[in-house]
Amino acid sequence: MRVAMFASEMDPYVKTGGLADVIGSLPKELLPYVDNVDVFIPYYRNIKRSNIPLEQTDINFSQKIGSKHYKGKVYRMEDSGISVYLIDNYHLFRKRSDVYVRHGKDYPDNLERFVFFCKGALRVVEQLSVNQNYNIFHCHDWQTALIPLYTKLSDFFQAEKRPLTVYTIHNLAYQGKFPRSKFPLLQIPRKYLEPKYLESWGKINLMKAGLLFADELTTVSPTYAQEIQTKELGVGLHEILASRQKNLTGILNGVDYSIWNPKYSSHLSANYSSDDLSGKRICKKFLQKYYHLPVKPDALLTGIVSRLAWQKGMDLVLSVLPDLLSTGKIQFVLLGTGDSKLEEDFLALERQYPKQVGIKIGFGEALAHQIEAGIDVFLMPSRYEPCGLNDKYSLKYGSVPVVYCTGGLADSVIDYQTHPNDGTGFVFCQFNPDSFKKAVLNALKIFQVKSEWVKLIQRGMQQDFSWSKSAEQYLQVYKRKSN
Ligand code: ADP
Ligand code: GLC
Repeated sequence: MRVAMFASEMDPYVKTGGLADVIGSLPKELLPYVDNVDVFIPYYRNIKRSNIPLEQTDINFSQKIGSKHYKGKVYRMEDSGISVYLIDNYHLFRKRSDVYVRHGKDYPDNLERFVFFCKGALRVVEQLSVNQNYNIFHCHDWQTALIPLYTKLSDFFQAEKRPLTVYTIHNLAYQGKFPRSKFPLLQIPRKYLEPKYLESWGKINLMKAGLLFADELTTVSPTYAQEIQTKELGVGLHEILASRQKNLTGILNGVDYSIWNPKYSSHLSANYSSDDLSGKRICKKFLQKYYHLPVKPDALLTGIVSRLAWQKGMDLVLSVLPDLLSTGKIQFVLLGTGDSKLEEDFLALERQYPKQVGIKIGFGEALAHQIEAGIDVFLMPSRYEPCGLNDKYSLKYGSVPVVYCTGGLADSVIDYQTHPNDGTGFVFCQFNPDSFKKAVLNALKIFQVKSEWVKLIQRGMQQDFSWSKSAEQYLQVYKRKSN
């Protein structure tokens, strides 16, 4: 079995969120079970600047989009047995400092950029298929959603053994919507502009191409697979998803414990494991100092690492923090970037409570690990969460997650209040400030009973969300004959 995987992010080369973590790990986890996995991503500026050794292939192409011709080059690198192909165009990717946005606004030519990527990647795949075909095309999120449709319309891929196309939804809210006037740039027959295909409320919706034309659909947790078939969380696509129910599978993301592990992480001031938590106390002290907070072992140090977006329920955090801080027993640290209003509000909170709140606006891998290790409690009141990785990282780092019962959070965290013998965190099920505040105060109460707290965090650390089970589930999907 030969797998071609297409995505717009891959850790450690380019990352804005959890998609990168998945593409950085899943191909390696699949490798023992398949003949090979090749990953296709755009060649971004930061990859060029990181000086990773790359080999330029002899594949070159020219892609027409509208009236413009874009030149494509292809680079290749090897990562733990995986070939990563980087699709290069200076103007569309390598020139830009950010992946999707500039100053908080989407690049106006994102459609052109990802049409170029999808078309270019498929041309590379054609050339690489000369000796042997790929059996599986696995596409992720709206940026690669055109690939199943292009595959269906391609003489080359229909001619011989057609690959099975799999489309994974990481977040249904980001659908890749563009003005109808851009439809000709997609280079597909006019009939696809109808509402039963790509048209949606006067726009073109690229995600619909993945949902309608991929043989198999997956999303990143079993609960989210159910939720997106409902009007409430289906973001306008629930009917299509429900109609494809037979081919829609929820597979929880795994955790790469070779990266996210307090026993080995090189980013920490001390390493630790569930048998010996002394290093965690050192990490807490480090974090309090880093954020200029009083070094108090008895303060409940709460924290967040997150994109600052509506999805993540940050408004709920901002609304309950003043009350929580007024107990005098709670501190709060944050690393995040995104919505500028949320960034300002968190910075204002820091100015108001300088001895209890520390805010860092930005993106930083090392600090993300240091927060996971140093805090006592991770706050994740997401309105919806397709999978969520920080709740699972927190469990491994002995930091108790407080989460809303949605999507992959509901599938991963067991509520301590209702299951005191197996609980691993605190789960609230009404999305309002009072329920969230109550959950954090319940955590504070248990934190003050040290023997109970240690049992709770040890149980969390012993949970196993490793990739092997999820990789097997993907294999089952790859082996399915579509109907
Ligand atoms: P999402 O993909 O919706 O942002 P996930 O929980 O699946 O949420 O994954 C988020 C990933 O991005 C995690 O690896 C998290 O540590 C990382 N991350 C988010 N924001 C930041 C940040 N500001 N700095 C460093 N890492 C971040
Ligand atoms: C998306 C989702 C997140 C998920 C990640 C990786 O960004 O918001 O819940 O964990 O993709 O699948």
